[in-house]
Amino acid sequence: MLTKKTIITLFAAGAALCATAKPKAPADMDSFIDNLMSKMTLEEKIGQLNLPVSGILTGDAKSENVAENIRGGHTGGVFGVKGAAEIRKLQDIAVKESRLGIPLVFGLDVIHGYQTTFPIPLAQASSWDMSAIERMAQIAGDEASSSGINWVYSPMVDVCRDPRWGRIAEGPGEDPYLGAEIAKAMVRGFQGEDLKDKNTVMACVKHFALYGAPDGGRDYNTVDMSRQRLLNEYILPYKAAAEAGAGSFMASFNTFENIPATANSYLLTDLLRKQWGFDGMVVSDYTGVLEMISHGIGDYQTVAARALKAGTDMDMVSEAYKNTLAKSLEEGKVSMEDIDRAVRRVLEMKYRLGLFDDPYRYTDTKREAATVYKPAYREEARRLAAECMVLLENKDGVLPLKGAEKIALIGPLGNSAANMPGMWSVPDADRKPVSLYEGMKEVFGDKVRYAKGCDALADAELEKKVSPGQNPERTGQSAAEMKAEALKLAAESDVIVAAMGELSEMTGEGASRANIVVPEPQEELLKALKETGKPIVLVLFTGRPLVLTWEKDNLDAILNVWFAGSEAGGAIADVLAGKVNPSGKLPVSFPYHVGQIPVHYNSMMTGRPMPEGVSYIKYRSNYQDIPNQPLYPFGYGKSYTEFEISPVALSSSEMAPDGTVTASVTVTNKGAVEGKETVQLYIRDTVAESTRPVKELKGFEKVTLKPGESKEVTFTVTPDMLKYYNHDLEYVLEPGEFEIMAGPDSQNLSKALLTVK
Ligand code: BGC
Repeated sequence: MLTKKTIITLFAAGAALCATAKPKAPADMDSFIDNLMSKMTLEEKIGQLNLPVSGILTGDAKSENVAENIRGGHTGGVFGVKGAAEIRKLQDIAVKESRLGIPLVFGLDVIHGYQTTFPIPLAQASSWDMSAIERMAQIAGDEASSSGINWVYSPMVDVCRDPRWGRIAEGPGEDPYLGAEIAKAMVRGFQGEDLKDKNTVMACVKHFALYGAPDGGRDYNTVDMSRQRLLNEYILPYKAAAEAGAGSFMASFNTFENIPATANSYLLTDLLRKQWGFDGMVVSDYTGVLEMISHGIGDYQTVAARALKAGTDMDMVSEAYKNTLAKSLEEGKVSMEDIDRAVRRVLEMKYRLGLFDDPYRYTDTKREAATVYKPAYREEARRLAAECMVLLENKDGVLPLKGAEKIALIGPLGNSAANMPGMWSVPDADRKPVSLYEGMKEVFGDKVRYAKGCDALADAELEKKVSPGQNPERTGQSAAEMKAEALKLAAESDVIVAAMGELSEMTGEGASRANIVVPEPQEELLKALKETGKPIVLVLFTGRPLVLTWEKDNLDAILNVWFAGSEAGGAIADVLAGKVNPSGKLPVSFPYHVGQIPVHYNSMMTGRPMPEGVSYIKYRSNYQDIPNQPLYPFGYGKSYTEFEISPVALSSSEMAPDGTVTASVTVTNKGAVEGKETVQLYIRDTVAESTRPVKELKGFEKVTLKPGESKEVTFTVTPDMLKYYNHDLEYVLEPGEFEIMAGPDSQNLSKALLTVK
């Protein structure tokens, strides 16, 4: 029998190989893993496929006997635990007390930062700044890896066109191209040059696939979509992440073609592995295997066998692999190859992370103390947060605040540190985020005074339920008292800054809303404040697009700050004061009315299109009572300066199918302050074998311009930008006419015609 000593020698040999090997040295890795697997019992192999949760729970189910299972070799990794010391203890059990001493992998949902938190992903997408996004992922990876984590459940790249779905907050928004650029930036940021570096972590791309398209925007609901639509409109970010070298993927909860993704071999094997060549590991989502019983596709044993065969390697929380695979093997329901394939992928993951060299490489408590929440990272977080805010309205230049005004900060989100970071943030309780009031006091001094004005939601019970684990921060004051206090403060002030919108947990997982408006008590208070005649700046907190029709017409300025992370308070104050000129652009359309949903810029051409700027016409594709256009379109966002973008010019109006042309515009800063503009390139394929979208984003560039300065922005139009998946699912370029469009958002575009011969 193998003794501990031989195992340690075995790993030491592996370590020696690793030390001289290049990051991915398959030959060495293969022989190391062959050797290790030859020593493993069936039970130990199946153990590697089991992923329990400990600490932070993100579902109803809970794993029992975690330490005992590690000791017995029944566990491949653990997720939900934080902290170098805590993780070291668990790693010790695996390395010193299990028979083979195989190290564990440690996962966590590091969605928008670790202890230093950045804006929620939808906000990050609003920056359209890929180096900023990469940097956020890098810092998150550095902090998390110093704290024992080596595997993060991010990036979440589910394209979503239905803002009722709460998890829209976690993703890149409605566009696959922007989503793909973000996916690449995040994978680069997390994984760096070499996964074995101590400050990098393995990315886990989720949720594969189509989790962002549930019917009715209801979380966990059915997804019904053609393969053509999947490939043209949703898949690109996942594919880009795989091509960028993401080490792992997570299967989604939803069905595709009526088969849950966890057991969907078209998604997990045909597309991901065979077509894209992905060679990493696939984990189920939280109890994703078990939930297939409720999907009605089999009992405990059957769903586990189906998941494994389809390509789900690791079973998160269900323990269905652990409890049934040996029996399924005996009964011929799975093969030894099925099990070995999955085990190999889990071991490869550990090898790539360098865990066989040094299982404790991520558990250095000194490094942790010097890294997490360090002032330099918090400063960066404040700067990056300001980049993500979107100025939706600014009538008569009410913003930036001039500095001399008496400011009334009013609203339930004005002094609520807990609600600043946004859903799915994992900082410890002692890392207190900066509230808006604190941030504004730092920047505006005692010119700012605060009154809550109203509760966030009318229903106290609902408020508790939507903010699990958070103090809903009710003061006990009556609605009338709060309102009177706010109106008095407003009367004594020159300008009102209304801090209103959603509580942070009103988006995220299990947080769908049907009526996506500013909650009632807050909207009522806004209406009362309007009566004072004072200028009102709405600082809008939200994790999803909201319907803001009244706000657009009645308020002087709207600054959408989303949820901007631990440094939100200071960052918002910086923008209000004009220390930072806002440059965010919406990565998702803000509907005019809930009844428009799904409303997105890249809708399909219809047979009865509606002319622009016209109200209802019978027998056209439109509504009697609302326009077709959203209230704020994709790509939209204002600045404290004005930009002018020249009409788009092509280097040639013709292109060979294997050629390229350039499309250029000149951007000029016409205003008095420096600012950033994001020029966007869209393409429409006017005639194709299949109906195509009215336009699709194909490029963008963010430029910084001093007052009076101009810059030329040039895009290269490549054949790839003109291709799509046709009805037979072939990726083709069909010669003919294309419209090449450029401008500051998806609605204000100049266009030129390009013919591909
Ligand atoms: C979520 C995943 C998450 C997992 C682990 C699930 O409920 O859907 O996004 O990574 O829990 O926390």
